[in-house]
Amino acid sequence: MPNRAMSIVAYIGSQFRKPTGLGGRLSALVMNRMNQKQYNATEAALELRDGDVVLDIGFGNGYMLRRLARRNNSRFLGIEISDDMLRAALRRNRRAIADGRMTLTHGDVARLDFADGFFDKAYTVNTVYFWSDLDSCLAELHRTLKLGGTFVNTVYTKEFLDSLPFTKRGFAKYSSEELTAASERVGFAVKSVPIASGKAYCLLCVKV
Ligand SMILES: C[S@@+](CC[C@H](N)C(=O)[O-])C[C@H]1O[C@@H](n2cnc3c(N)ncnc32)[C@H](O)[C@@H]1O
Repeated sequence: MPNRAMSIVAYIGSQFRKPTGLGGRLSALVMNRMNQKQYNATEAALELRDGDVVLDIGFGNGYMLRRLARRNNSRFLGIEISDDMLRAALRRNRRAIADGRMTLTHGDVARLDFADGFFDKAYTVNTVYFWSDLDSCLAELHRTLKLGGTFVNTVYTKEFLDSLPFTKRGFAKYSSEELTAASERVGFAVKSVPIASGKAYCLLCVKV
């Protein structure tokens, strides 16, 4: 592939990994359109109840948080490594934040600044490919969930990601078996729910 085309492909990949600037805001809007089926499945899997304390890892422009906060009386927290996405999500969710129902901060899933057993539920959509170390990040999620709490990890399949040119670099593409085994290793009971005729899935991870 010529250099210029290669650098455009690399740029697109980097905007999924850490959306930044105008390109980042546009990629986040593309993701919002592309990922509707994943959002629907994640919401269904979470089974939110009044008063649940819920964490979103890598919330991007905060689209999913706003959707959930409009429909549920839960308390939402979120962490995100991109400052530009944090700003966009703060704007999009200003009402829930002003009402004291949502707190969004800069943060990395590798080091969750929350007490053991703090959350009832946690979820993430399309971020696991960018985690620095799968096992230790899953262990952090397990630590911060209550016993019986659920972590919904929503991803595209390795096969689908392999078909996209921009995922060749900077994406850790796990098979569903690898992701399931890693989640079980840190103490989750795991069930897989297919999405979009098997192009994506939610791993429902319950802390046991
Ligand atoms: C593909 S986007 C998905 C955004 C959002 N979850 C959605 O589905 O619309 C991945 C997001 O994860 C964030 N991210 C990547 N690595 C992260 C990490 N280690 N901790 C927290 N967020 C991370 C990126 O900044 C980006 O906003």
